[in-house]
Amino acid sequence: MQQQWWHKSVIYQIYPRSFNDSNNDGIGDIKGIIQKLDYLKELGIEVIWLSPIYESPNVDNGYDISDYYSILPEYGTMDDMNKLLLESHQREIKIIMDLVVNHTSDQHPWFIEAKKSKDNPYRNYYIWRDPMNGQEPNELDSNFGGSAWEYDESTNQYYLHLYSKQQPDLNWENETMRISIWEMMNFWIDKGISGFRMDVIDLIGKNPDKQIKENGPKLHDYLQEMYINTFGKHDLLTVGETWGATTENAKLYSDPKRKELNMVFQFEHMNLDKIPGKRRWDLKKLELVELKQVLSKWQYALGQEGWNSLFWNNHDLPRIVSRWGNDGEYRVKSAKMLATLLHGMKGTPYVYQGEEIGMTNAVFDSIDDYIDIETRNVYKERIKDGFSEEEIMKSLYMKARDNARTPMQWSDEPNAGFSKGKPWMKVNPNYTYINVKNALEDEDSVFYHYQKLIDMRKNNNLIVYGTYNLLEPDNENIYAYERILENEKLLIVCNFYEVEKKFYYPVTEYTKARILLSNYNNSGLDISNIRLRPYEAIIYQISEGKSDK
Ligand code: NOJ
Repeated sequence: MQQQWWHKSVIYQIYPRSFNDSNNDGIGDIKGIIQKLDYLKELGIEVIWLSPIYESPNVDNGYDISDYYSILPEYGTMDDMNKLLLESHQREIKIIMDLVVNHTSDQHPWFIEAKKSKDNPYRNYYIWRDPMNGQEPNELDSNFGGSAWEYDESTNQYYLHLYSKQQPDLNWENETMRISIWEMMNFWIDKGISGFRMDVIDLIGKNPDKQIKENGPKLHDYLQEMYINTFGKHDLLTVGETWGATTENAKLYSDPKRKELNMVFQFEHMNLDKIPGKRRWDLKKLELVELKQVLSKWQYALGQEGWNSLFWNNHDLPRIVSRWGNDGEYRVKSAKMLATLLHGMKGTPYVYQGEEIGMTNAVFDSIDDYIDIETRNVYKERIKDGFSEEEIMKSLYMKARDNARTPMQWSDEPNAGFSKGKPWMKVNPNYTYINVKNALEDEDSVFYHYQKLIDMRKNNNLIVYGTYNLLEPDNENIYAYERILENEKLLIVCNFYEVEKKFYYPVTEYTKARILLSNYNNSGLDISNIRLRPYEAIIYQISEGKSDK
């Protein structure tokens, strides 16, 4: 496998609105990010993925872009953006941008033009259909609820929106539209960005008439065309958000020979705590054995061809320590265990802001405290469908996207040190003790554990290129696996729960083991019989050899 810079990097996702507010208007901004670059440097971060900072009416927090070439004034100016690039590069930190090109905002000039008439030059930038018997063209539904078709009275046609009606879908069949996208991507590449995270990119090949959303027939053609016309000429990182990815099509995206993307975000593991066939709000307990099956399937499938991305969190997902860890007594231990489990694998790990200090889900008492358009829609729908208020609030507490979007907790000062103004969204009240300041002062904090994991990836080829091998697939409490490269091995053992458990690893008289990292002091050195305390996670380096090297 040809080595790439992004094989050794850990990527830190910033959700600008909630990261750091420099001008005290209650909204995070670019200058606020610049103020925290040294913090990220200390964590060991070399790449930032910036969620959208473009001009936007913010119906979906920036994922509805009205101008790809300018910065939302709440976040700053293009000069601030240039400064962010400069200051990051001075610290050897790269920036990758969110690329949202499945849809634009309905306030984008292309759409404003397109709506004017059927023969407007921009009409065909979007997807329009005639009514079917006076109704929607078909039953395609929006990922935010309701029909994916919105009626436009003045031209008597419907347009497609796979998200909110303020996010009309671009028509990728239109070559002129595609060329406009290449131009825009090259504008940002020329500015010195280091790559793109591509929002719902598996939707661009859709066929709305056949009601196909993901993995449409022309998807890979478009990506290859994008490669040739934009990032293919540069050494950039590209990661596609692909909710519908299977291991088979992930290889299509990420096999370097095919010249598409470097890797994709796949979400199969993120569906394990919902009732199969239902929506993510229909909760089910996670089975560790299933988690092992899914993660291992991806590790094996993309072991030699393609490349995995590794993540527990992003701005659409609940906080992992509340989801699959323990956000009470064992918050610190379980956050470190989950980090170890993931960062020991093969692929490029992503850390979402606040994950590195073990931030938790927010318990909001009322639907009014939730801001996210998806959450509000789901609430209304489920009330209509007869769910009780209590049931709905329970699933929101577990799964709402706002869990990840509460302001970053910097200190125990008012508003968690995020802003001196009123934050755009409620701060999680536990900021008084879960915050960066405390984490930096405590050598046992989650922060320093992440710092060590990040450092290990930079300096240990076993973590980067070692082959993955799952141990004890049926063990219901312990997730253990090896990483193997030539004569060296890593053994990663994680107790996923609070009960103490034993783990036995086969050894010979020549087996030597040393601990590279653990979330407890004095973890067992005898790997033939390891007693794992609640949420204990250990990385051992193992070698077999008669000589005493
Ligand atoms: C995926 C993004 O991550 C999410 O936040 C957004 O709502 C949808 N795509 C639509 O852009």
